[in-house]
Parts: sequence; C-alpha cells; structure tokens
Amino acid sequence: MSFIHAQNITKTFNGKNNGASTMAIAEMSLTIREKEFISIIGPSGCGKSTFLLMVAGLEKPTTGDLAIEGKPINGPDHQRAIVFQEFLLFPWKTVKGNIEFGPRLNRIKKQAYESQSRDLIRLVGLEGFENRFPHELSGGMKQRVAIARALANKPKVLLMDEPFGALDALTRESMQIELQKIWQKAQCTVLFVTHSITEAVFLADRVVVMSNRPGYVKKTLAIDLERPRTRKMFTSERFRHYEHQLKESIWEEEETGSWEINPVEEKRSA
Ligand SMILES: Nc1ncnc2c1ncn2[C@@H]1O[C@H](COP(=O)(O)OP(=O)(O)OP(=O)(O)O)[C@@H](O)[C@H]1O
Ligand SMILES: [Mg+2]
Repeated sequence: MSFIHAQNITKTFNGKNNGASTMAIAEMSLTIREKEFISIIGPSGCGKSTFLLMVAGLEKPTTGDLAIEGKPINGPDHQRAIVFQEFLLFPWKTVKGNIEFGPRLNRIKKQAYESQSRDLIRLVGLEGFENRFPHELSGGMKQRVAIARALANKPKVLLMDEPFGALDALTRESMQIELQKIWQKAQCTVLFVTHSITEAVFLADRVVVMSNRPGYVKKTLAIDLERPRTRKMFTSERFRHYEHQLKESIWEEEETGSWEINPVEEKRSA
C-alpha cells in the first residue's frame, strides 16, 4: 500500500536578482510504504535534502505530485518531523525542556507530556540527564535529544538528514543500533539521508540511490536481512553484496557526473 507517493516531481530554485536558476530534482518518482525504513543516498547536491524538505512540507515541488495517505502535501504538519545533522537544540532549555517543547506548544496537558517525555528519555537512553543543558552533552547525546524531540509529536514520518554525519565512527555505529530500536518501538516511517553506504544498508528496508543533479531515483534496492540487524551482519556476505551493488551504482554516477563542476542545466533567467 502506498503511503508517501511522489510522481514525476521536479524542483527548480529560481536565483535571486536574475541569478542562475537551479534544477535540483527532475522527474522523481517514488512510492514508500507505511512504516518502511528508507535510506536515501546519492551524490552531493543531487537534491536529497530538497526531497526531504518537500516531504516535510517546507518546500513545494515545482511540478508533479507529492502526497501522503492520498492527500497532497501542502505545508508542514506535526505528523512529519525532521532531524538534521546539526543538532538544532534550544541551548537555553534542558534535555527535558527540549523534548517537551513541541507538545507544550500544542497545548497537551502537563501530565501527559511529562509522562511522554519520561518514556522518550528512556527510549533514547538519556535517563539521569533530564536536567542537563545541550552544552553539557556529547554529540551522540545531543542527537538522541534531537530524535526524542522529533518523536515527541508522535510523527507518522521521521525525516532524517545525515543525522549522524557529525559523530565519530564508534558513536555513529552505536547510534545506528539505537535508531533501529527506536524505529521499531516508535512504529513510524523513516526517510534517512546518508553519505554512508554501510549505514544505508544496515538500517534500511530499501535503499534509494539518486542520480546526479537534477536528481531522480536511479535505483532502489530491497535489503533482505533479518531484524534486528546486528553488528555481525556488517561482515556477512550478503551485506557486502548489497554494499557493492550500491557502490557500483554510485560510481557510475561519479563517472558520468559533471554537474557540480559544470552545471550546464543552469539557465540565466535574465
Ligand atoms: N534554497 C535554495 N535556493 C537555491 N538553490 C538551492 C536551495 N536549496 C538547494 N539548492 C540547490 O539545489 C541543489 C540540491 O541541493 P540539496 O541540498 O538538496 O542537495 P543534497 O543532495 O542534499 O546535497 P548534500 O549531499 O551535499 O547535502 C543544489 O544545487 C543546491 O545548491
Ligand atoms: Mg543535503
């Protein structure tokens, strides 16, 4: 069953003051099932973040249709939450304050949001740190707070844009395992953008490879590995096979791609 459906969407950014316009996405079609974990990989500048922002409702496709549960996406909605690479926490609020911010804004009753934030703090493994401020936390802990804060509005869709990109390798690996647990408990659909093929395979039900800019779906690869995924799987033959297939697909793009160096599709609108 289709949950999020993109049909031939394009996105062109018009340059300001008669500057160059940029076609970020071209004829992108993708169907995502409810509760699916989708990893999105692709060359830099191919429109991955732009696609997430469109699903979030923060950008609009220039042409084409983008719908969730059969309804066009017309703007932001608390059912679609986004987590960025930069933690974007409120520095003046504690862990608890950051997590409770959304529900308070939505006028949820104190008792309800406090009990929920206790559950979320447990879910992301931050018990004992409720009253700390962001500057007192490590990178991994900050990203846990960002995830808990995104989950506080009980989203149906969690949009994650390179959320672990700023973390060291070991923290990143443990966050991948944590995220899998969180996703299984939270039961939401995840769109996860990453530059790491290994991370993409480890987490996803399906990996989407985007082409060079202007981006479209070049390939989708179903990852048939049992859950929960474990560290041992990283070295399994099947895992490596998936990684290799994706690498080849990316290499092809690198060979054919000159968009970043020579953006020939950009037109002067003046
Ligand atoms: N608000 C904007 N105004 C103008 N151009 C934009 C805007 N946002 C993105 N672009 C352009 O659209 C293209 C796609 O950008 P996007 O950020 O979606 O790429 P990306 O795939 O997320 O790249 P990266 O992997 O480097 O994060 C780029 O050429 C970028 O310069
Ligand atoms: Mg990006």
